[in-house]
Order: sequence, then C-alpha cells, then structure tokens
Amino acid sequence: MIDLHCHMLPGLDDGAPDLATALAMARMFAADGVTHVACTPHILPGLYHNTGDQIRAAVGAFDAELRNQDIDLAIFPGADAHMTPAFIQGLRSGHIPTLGASRYVLVEPPHHTVPQRIEQFFFDILVAGYVPILTHPERLRWINDHYAIMQRLAAHGVWMQLTAASVTGAFGKNAQYWSERMLDEGLVHVLASDAHDVHRRIPNLSRGRDAAAKRLGDVEARHLVITRPWGILSDEPPNAMPAPPGLLPSDRRTARPGDPRAEAADGRDHPGKRGWASRLRNLFE
Ligand SMILES: [Fe+2]
Repeated sequence: MIDLHCHMLPGLDDGAPDLATALAMARMFAADGVTHVACTPHILPGLYHNTGDQIRAAVGAFDAELRNQDIDLAIFPGADAHMTPAFIQGLRSGHIPTLGASRYVLVEPPHHTVPQRIEQFFFDILVAGYVPILTHPERLRWINDHYAIMQRLAAHGVWMQLTAASVTGAFGKNAQYWSERMLDEGLVHVLASDAHDVHRRIPNLSRGRDAAAKRLGDVEARHLVITRPWGILSDEPPNAMPAPPGLLPSDRRTARPGDPRAEAADGRDHPGKRGWASRLRNLFE
C-alpha cells in the first residue's frame, strides 16, 4: 500500500517529535504492508513554518536513517498545506511541495468554519494545473451543514482523501458517518493514515482499507490505497486513473437521486457559478 498523508518527519510539526519515534512509525508502516509514504508536515502560517526546501532536506536525511536501519520504506516529500491566500504562488515557487513533485497537492481547509469562496479557491488551483486533494473532509466540523460543497467539489475535479481511522470509528461517530456516506456515494479517491505517532494516531492504513472493502469491495479498496496513490506519485493525469464509483462518466453509470454531479444538492448551499463547472469538465474529461 501507499500512504500519502502522514506526519513522520521528526521535529517539523505536531507529528513525530524525535528520530526514535519517526523510526518506530516507519517500522509500523512497513509491518502494516505500506511500501511508499509521502511525508507531509503541516504548513500553516503562524504555527508551522515549513517550506518545500526544508521538507525535501528532511526527507533526504530521514531516508538515510531508514537505510541505516534497514527499514524497507520509500519516502517522498509533500505537505499538509492549509488554505492560505498565497497558495498557488506557494506551489509555483516550490514553497508548498506537491506529493512526490507531482501535480497533486494536499489541501487542508479550516476545521471549524467554512471558508468564504472555498469553491473558487479550489477551482483556481485546478486552473493553475494542479490537482488539489482535500484532506479529511469527514473530520471538518462544517461538513454537517455544508455537505453539498463536498459533493460539488468532488464532482468538479477536487480529489477527496479520508483518514483511515475515521472509517474504523476512531475519530467518533460523526467522522465515521461522513466517511461511510462519502464512500457509499463513491466520492472518495484516496485513503491515508494521517499518522502522527505510535500510540494514538498510528500508521493503520490496512484497517481502513479493510473497512472500506466491506462497503465497496476489494477492487475499489485497492484503488483507494494502491492504484490512485501510485498514479499520484507517478504524476499520471487524473482521468488516466479509475474514477471513484460516484464520479464515473455519466454514460457509464445510472443517474440516481442525490447524484453528486447534480448542482446544489441540499438547498443550503448555492453553487452560484455554473459556468466554471462546465469549464472544468472540459479541462479534465
Ligand atoms: Fe495531517
């Protein structure tokens, strides 16, 4: 399996505090059946001032430690980059690293309030030639009142990454409800551990994969932890990879109520700009 979201690099954020913990996490990844990991420290102005150069250097140094310790894990740079006004500028300058230098980038929205113009924010990243992967939508407080935003973002080319432990219930009933609903609606592209340590938020991708397989079957579960993550690290275009079941082209599936490609699902959110949706489809289909 391939894990594209974790906080294993020592001392860069609220993840592994030291090398011993980072190495213990790496051993847990390998024991769990993970072969490739993107190391994605937080980038959050005012709190975590990591830069692409620092993260790439830290990955190089940690890779040498893995070899010294004979831990069989391939690691890649990335970031858990919070929404900021200069996001695209940061991508272009390399200040915000993409996943393994691909076109794919983790984007973490605020947890407690829905940002104004969030759809325009993600649209601008797509138009700039990157594919934003929205991290753990199921754990954001505002999903309860604004789920239609997630449906529209997914339908318009934003990728969705669930946390493995949400699917197994470790983040509580609310996160489990939304992760199961998004899986059942076929809106999820990637599952990742978002591991921070070896006690509480641990490398545990296989349990999430198994829980997803019970809902979607083994083939789609494999896409969540192998096919799409591998395509991301290989920088394959999004339409070269299998679409999640709810996002298949309309001629390959049956329309149903609640279709995420339908605009404005719940009436509380208003899509406003239908124009950009169709422009995006032309870009990515
Ligand atoms: Fe994270």
